[in-house]
Amino acid sequence: MRPRSISLDVNGCSHAFVVAEDTPLLYILRNDLGLNGPKFGCGLGECGACAVLVEGRAVRSCTVKIGAVENKAITTLEGLGAAGKLHPVQQAFIEMQAAQCGYCINGMIVALVALLERNANPTEADIRKALSRHLCRCGTHVEILAAARRAVE
Ligand code: FES
Repeated sequence: MRPRSISLDVNGCSHAFVVAEDTPLLYILRNDLGLNGPKFGCGLGECGACAVLVEGRAVRSCTVKIGAVENKAITTLEGLGAAGKLHPVQQAFIEMQAAQCGYCINGMIVALVALLERNANPTEADIRKALSRHLCRCGTHVEILAAARRAVE
């Protein structure tokens, strides 16, 4: 695909890139914008490590083509929270020491933020469903669920 100028709105800032529109969003976020919150895990949409919000919905940025999100509001882990404060989900993950290696945590947090944006009072089943397609190789699911519960308190 031939490169063209594409505008992205990332964490409230506009950026323009001359790039093929089938370039994965994750590549632009990490390689061009230096945003290391979203991680490259599987590159196949399977693990969730690369999740970001697009218009408030959690998506897997390794499989989203940049042309599909032109001028849409993209929020990465770095763009969560406001006025210099962490998002309550981020704060809860720190307080509950939910991370071990930390590689999956970006996706877990983004998935929970998306859940809370559409449901401020999720049930345990809602939380488990939101996190169900996010893989944690360290097996810190107990701490992650505790952090999720803390975030909705
Ligand atoms: Fe995108 Fe695994 S890196 S889902």
